[in-house]
Amino acid sequence: MENPRSLIRTIPILAPWRSSAPQAATVEARPANRTELETWLESSCQWAEAALDRHILSDAVAARDSRLKEVMVYALLGGGKRMRPALVRLVCRELGGEDLDAERPAAAVEAIHAYSLAHDDLPCMDDDDLRRGRPSCHRVHGEALALLAGDALHTAAFQCLAEEPGPRAMEWIRVLSAAAGARGMVGGQVLDMTLSWTDLTLESVREMQRGKTGALIAAAAEMGAIAARAEVARRDQARAFGTALGALFQVVDDILDVVGDAAELGKTPGKDARHSKPTIVAVLGIDGAWAEAQRTAEEARRTATRLGFRRPSLGFELIEWLLERRR
Ligand code: IPE
Ligand code: IPE
Ligand code: MG
Ligand code: MG
Ligand code: MG
Repeated sequence: MENPRSLIRTIPILAPWRSSAPQAATVEARPANRTELETWLESSCQWAEAALDRHILSDAVAARDSRLKEVMVYALLGGGKRMRPALVRLVCRELGGEDLDAERPAAAVEAIHAYSLAHDDLPCMDDDDLRRGRPSCHRVHGEALALLAGDALHTAAFQCLAEEPGPRAMEWIRVLSAAAGARGMVGGQVLDMTLSWTDLTLESVREMQRGKTGALIAAAAEMGAIAARAEVARRDQARAFGTALGALFQVVDDILDVVGDAAELGKTPGKDARHSKPTIVAVLGIDGAWAEAQRTAEEARRTATRLGFRRPSLGFELIEWLLERRR
C-alpha cells in the first residue's frame, strides 16, 4: 500500500484571483478523491446529456420545426458543467435512490437552466456574446429564435416531469415551478436588472442571488430527494444543502467574472463591472467576496453533514470543487 505520507505534498495555496505572491502551505493533496469526483462528474455529464436527449429532445417533446429544434439543441447541448443534474443524481443516490429515478428531474432542471442562460445573454438583459466557449444563442440564431427556444425548453421541462407516472411528478412540478418562477429564478433576475446602487447592500445582493441562482440549485437537491422517495425531513435537509451550494456557486461566479480567463470560463469576464451589476464583489470587494465564498462553503459543509455525507465523500468533494472552480 502507498505510504499515506506520500499523499501529503507541499503545494502552493493561492486564491487565483489574489495578486499577492503564493503562500506555501502543507495540505493533503487527496489525489485519489479528486480523481474520483472528476470521474464522477464526467460520468454525470454523459448521464445528464443522455437524459436530456431522452426527455427534452425526444420527438414527443422537442419542436417538429427543424429550425426551432436546432436552436433548442444549441442552447441545451455543446458544453456546460451539468452541475444541477449532477446534484439531483448525487442527492438521489445518497438517499437510497437509483440513477433511473433521477433522470427526469435532472433533465428538467437543466432545461430550465439552459433557457435561463439563453435569455440572460440577450441584448435586453446581459448582452453577452460568448457562452460555453461559443457565440451565445442569439448571436448565432437571432434574438427571436433564442427567445422562443428558451420558451420551448421551459415548457419541455414541465412536460418531461408531467409524463412521469406516479405521485412524484406533481411534487417535482411543485418544487421546480416555485423555483423557476417569480419568487425564484425569474424574480432574482428581475432584481439583478433593477437593484439600484443606492439599495445595494450585502443582504439585497444575497436575496437577489438566492433567487436568480440559488432557487434552481436548491430545487435540484430537493428533487433528488423526492426522486429517492425520501421523507419530508430528509427533503428539507437536501434543500438546505442545495441552498448553501447555490450561494457558494454565485459568489464564485461573481469572483470569476473579475479574475477569470475567457478561454477557461467560456464567457466574457469583466461584464459585471462594465454593466454596474449588483454582485458580491461590488459590495464587498474581491477579498471580501473570497471571504464570503469561504463562509458559504463552511455553511455547505454543515448542511452536508446534516444530510448524512461522510468525510471524505463526493458530497464534500463537490463543495471544494465549487470553491476552486475556474469555469
Ligand atoms: C451560469 O451557470 C449561470 C449562473 C447561474 C451563474 P453555470 O456556471 O452552471 O453554467 P454552465 O451550465 O456550466 O454553462
Ligand atoms: C445568471 O447570472 C443567472 C441566470 C441565468 C438565471 P449571471 O448573469 O451572473 O450568469 P453568467 O455570468 O452570465 O453566466
Ligand atoms: Mg445575468
Ligand atoms: Mg449573465
Ligand atoms: Mg455571472
